[in-house]
Amino acid sequence: MLKDLFILVHPTLGVLGVLAALWVFVEALKVNDDTLRRMKIASVTVAVLMLLTWPAGGVWDSLFYGADKAVIEKGPWAFLGDTAMETKEHLFVIVLLLSLYLPIVVFAGNLRASRGARLLTMTVAGLVVLSGLAMEGAGAVLGLSVKVAFFNLMGA
Ligand code: HEM
Repeated sequence: MLKDLFILVHPTLGVLGVLAALWVFVEALKVNDDTLRRMKIASVTVAVLMLLTWPAGGVWDSLFYGADKAVIEKGPWAFLGDTAMETKEHLFVIVLLLSLYLPIVVFAGNLRASRGARLLTMTVAGLVVLSGLAMEGAGAVLGLSVKVAFFNLMGA
């Protein structure tokens, strides 16, 4: 039961990280003292959530994914499932690096005066959103690959 609940942990942390990055993006549209204060909170939140997503996803990957992988490989979505997992394992580092860079840009950039710093913040936040959603999509493909394999095994 606890193991089954654990599968919810990393997608939840990851999606909250994506939402926090979207929050930074929206605040960066118009910067003043209030929005800057909120952007600082949101950008640190992004970094912390993505840092936590990493071991949470990694633990599932190393300890529990083996059983699902065996099922996926018996189904018609074996190639898709494998590709989704490879994508997650290899591309998450990009999400993580962008997420760690975001608070640096927000704290160190002169966001009130510099249009370039605002643009950089929005670009980094936007990329965290897009790459995080790609992780989400790859996760959905993985989940579906297991489901489709079971349907197939049951002859449905
Ligand atoms: C922004 C980051 C991430 C998001 C939003 C995310 C989201 C998801 C989602 C929605 C699922 C489907 C869960 C289900 O079957 O119901 C999933 C599955 C999975 N994720 Fe992630 N993920 C992220 C990062 C990672 C990382 C860093 C790893 C580790 C390498 C990872 C490993 C896995 C594995 C192994 C599964 C398959 C679970 C299974 O069916 O056994 N994910 N992910």
